Amino acid sequence: MRVILQNIAELVQVEDRVRPWVAGREMSELKTIKNAFLYIREELIEDFGPMQDLTRLNFETDDLVMEIDCAGKLVFPCYCDSHTHLVFPKTREQEFVDRIRGLSYEEISKNGGGILNSAHHLQEMSEDELYTRALERIEDIIATGTGAVEIKSGYGLTPESELKMLRVIDRLKKVCPIMIKSTFLGAHAVPAEYKNNRQEYINILIHEMLPLIATEELADYIDVFCDKGFFTPEETEQILMAGIKYGLRAKVHANELDYSGGIQAGVKYNALSVDHLEHICDEEINSLLSGETMPTILPGAAFFLKMRPAPARKLIDAGLPVALASDFNPGSSPTGNMNLMLSLACLQNGMLPEEAINAATINSAYAMGISESYGSIARGKVANVFITKNLDNYQQVPYFFGTNPVESIILNGQLITDLAL
Ligand code: NIG
Ligand code: FE
Repeated sequence: MRVILQNIAELVQVEDRVRPWVAGREMSELKTIKNAFLYIREELIEDFGPMQDLTRLNFETDDLVMEIDCAGKLVFPCYCDSHTHLVFPKTREQEFVDRIRGLSYEEISKNGGGILNSAHHLQEMSEDELYTRALERIEDIIATGTGAVEIKSGYGLTPESELKMLRVIDRLKKVCPIMIKSTFLGAHAVPAEYKNNRQEYINILIHEMLPLIATEELADYIDVFCDKGFFTPEETEQILMAGIKYGLRAKVHANELDYSGGIQAGVKYNALSVDHLEHICDEEINSLLSGETMPTILPGAAFFLKMRPAPARKLIDAGLPVALASDFNPGSSPTGNMNLMLSLACLQNGMLPEEAINAATINSAYAMGISESYGSIARGKVANVFITKNLDNYQQVPYFFGTNPVESIILNGQLITDLAL
């Protein structure tokens, strides 16, 4: 099957040479082509360019070609959402109300709410029900332009339940048309029964959970919530090191609640990304400058928990790259809408639309280890793109905050006509 998108008002995020990420000043540059075509062959992007170059394409007569007129519309590479917890049991709106009434996220966690609340419900829920709920969420995020997503475990916190979560993610990988990466986050919280013996829980994680996960090949990455009240940098290093021995590259939840040392621990173990980053000073920036770890901001969580925004401007001005992800989860960011993340990144974190779009495509692709094949319009990359409704320019995507600019979606070169998976 071949698909040609024609008369595209603006084709956004095109690359002639594939880059692993964009950093610093380069983040404010976004290459686009006005009045463009995009030619897709099977599941890959074969060619693109200005409309007047369309004649260079030669089709054999029996080729089946679908032509889509995109006049007045923009075409984007699908978003890569490099940080989510979208496999979860129940929603937690009671905590939302409790926070409106004045309780803090940390107080709610200390009282057995938060992650431990989700863990309790997850242990009770069947694998099939978890799977069905997650599938609906994936349909929702595809509808708002996401074409690749990373999903974490971490609401299990027992060998049995962590494996249950990872098996759900594995089933999703097999049926969903979007690219999925899975991350083992057994170190999301210390279960209440190990409160006074944290090392025992870490031992279970390292010596029981990890070998099982590795045998069944259920995870691509390993993550630790390194923050005040959760895991220390020393514990984080111990867990990351164990994961690396099983071939799992590190990712770290870092510096959301405090200057946790999580960024330095992540860089030391060559983490693919360190995520959250509301608490950053020069030491963290210097650490990031010394490595290849992608700083990732999650403005949905900072907004929903009314925390200080991560200083994305400072990171970019220091020459660093920044990635953007939704953190879709029931406690701190109950949305996977990446268009909203673009708006928040601009409004809350001081990023320009160009920087936010780079952060949610090419840089977030790097943060989930897939930037060679996803995250931009480039020849040979997977044809995961969305066509917008009528829009005048790409700045209007973050500008019309809270709306969905996506009109149609192409995944693996196929136009999605029915979102029900
Ligand atoms: O990324 N910060 C840690 N974990 C999640 C929150 C999970 C929850 O509250 O359920 C996050 O924000
Ligand atoms: Fe998270």
